[in-house]
This record gives sequence, C-alpha cells and structure tokens, in this order.
Amino acid sequence: MSITVSAPGKLMLMGDHAVVYGRPCLVAAVDKYLTVKAGLSDGQNDVFVTPKESNQTFLLQAIKLFREHYLIKEPVVIETESELGNYGLGSSSAVTVATIKALSELFKQKITDRELFDLSFKAVLAVQGLGSGFDVASAIYGGIIYFVSKGEMVERLPGVEMNLVIGYSGIKADTVKMVKSVEEKMKQYPSAVEKIFDNIADLVEKGKKAINEKDWFSLGKYLNYHQDYLEDLGISTPKLEAMITAARDAGALGAKLSGAGGGDCMIALICAEKKVEVKNAIEKAGGEIIDLKISSEGVKVL
Ligand code: MEV
Repeated sequence: MSITVSAPGKLMLMGDHAVVYGRPCLVAAVDKYLTVKAGLSDGQNDVFVTPKESNQTFLLQAIKLFREHYLIKEPVVIETESELGNYGLGSSSAVTVATIKALSELFKQKITDRELFDLSFKAVLAVQGLGSGFDVASAIYGGIIYFVSKGEMVERLPGVEMNLVIGYSGIKADTVKMVKSVEEKMKQYPSAVEKIFDNIADLVEKGKKAINEKDWFSLGKYLNYHQDYLEDLGISTPKLEAMITAARDAGALGAKLSGAGGGDCMIALICAEKKVEVKNAIEKAGGEIIDLKISSEGVKVL
C-alpha cells in the first residue's frame, strides 16, 4: 500500500521579514505542487527516490520527527516529485508538510492541521534554525492567509482570483543569509528597524482589508510602499528593482519583491488586460516569467 500527498508552493504577498519579528504577513498558495508518495519498505532501510530534490535534509528531518513523535520504526519508501523548481516557491516547507501528512496516513495516525503545523515547523526550524513558519502554514491551508508568527493566528482570506505576474530574477536567494543580514541590522539600528517593521505591519493590515474588499487598486499601492521598506532593509537587488520598475511602468497596479530578497522572485499585481505588457516588460528587464496562479488548495491526500 502507498499514500500520495500533494502540498502547494507559496508566494509571500506582504510582511516579508517583519513576520520573523512577530508582525503579521499575507501569503498565497500557488497552483504548483510537490507530491510525496510513501509506502512500506520490503528491506531493512529507508529508500528515497527524489529526482527533483538534490537536498534531502528537510525530508529526512520530517521522517525523523514523525518517528520520534509517533514512536514508529518501520522502514519506508519515499518518492517525491516537484513542480516548484528552484524559484523560492517553498519546496522545503512543502516537502516537510507532505511527508509528515503522508506518513500519518500510511501509519493511520490521526493528525490535525495544527499538529501538522507544529511538527512540520519544528522540522523546518531544526534544519534552518530560523523562520516564521508562514510557508508551512501556506502548504497546509492553501489559499490566501493572514498569518501571525509561529502560527499564533491563521486566517483565511478571499481573493484567489487576484491577478499576479511572477518574475524570477535568475538568482537563488539564500533565506538564512538574508534573515541573518536583517538580524545584523536590527542589532545595529534597533529603533529604525522596529519602525520599518511597524510600518510593514500597518501595510499588511491595510492589505488584508483591501483583499477582503477586493480593492486591487489600493492593494497595488500598498505593495509599492512595501517595496520601499524592503529596500530600506537592504534586501532588494538592482535586478529585482529593474523588474519591479518595468512592471510598474507597463501598467501593473503595484509590484514588490517576494520572500527573503537577495534574489528569487518579484510579484506584480495587475488588471487582466495588462498581463501581456507587464510580462513582456519583466522579461525585457531580464526576468523569467513563472506561470502560476493563486490556488485555494492546501495539503491533500490524492
Ligand atoms: C522568506 O521567504 C520570508 C522571510 O520572512 C523568512 C520567514 O518568514 O521565515 C524572510
């Protein structure tokens, strides 16, 4: 018998970095998935088939914590497949969530979403040492969520029909390095950085209201202000900024980097009729368009 589970990738809409310091964020799950197939092994050892993942640390940590928590020792066969690529769409959290969910189904252990969050977040922290857990929550719940650090609050929002264009900067971001660089800034200029985070938190609240009201014009404006604060934190790059400016000039309602910064992706909020212009402008600025949509689907047994 085997169990297959899928978990979606994610995009941070607002609250990047500030969420590590207790402020809220807005995150969207996307219609690109990572799947984990789990079965019992005939042999003495675990078997892993992970053609798209060169780094198995999150998978191994997820299995270890699952075994410790449920006192299960049987060897397993795990196969993973991924549509998430190396774009910073949350493959580490997706593989962690999908693995723990698949094992809980395989070994008939009931697990609530909250328990799945706690165990998965513990696994991610054991590997990365830091993080807010927003990506884990997104992989579990799907859709657009308002998330407060460590899953203290997870609120589902409407608006999955929001039109986004995603551009990859061609550089893989190092999340741990970027979070540490912000930590360094916080040590040097605590009151300035706290103020930036308070301003970002304020924008997140406004963004949440705009999403609830489907007021995309206001949301676009908030994304633009948000980018200014991320530039103040020193996590933006000239390439991301060129892509963001190009998107805005081509008629996007707003644009900002998404996630840790230092590379990965930018997002542009658009009206549907501007899609082609904005995509072309981002490509002209050197970005690679990633075709995806926001999805309401969270972790799922297939
Ligand atoms: C990374 O995608 C987003 C950060 O806020 C880190 C985190 O929340 O775990 C920089």
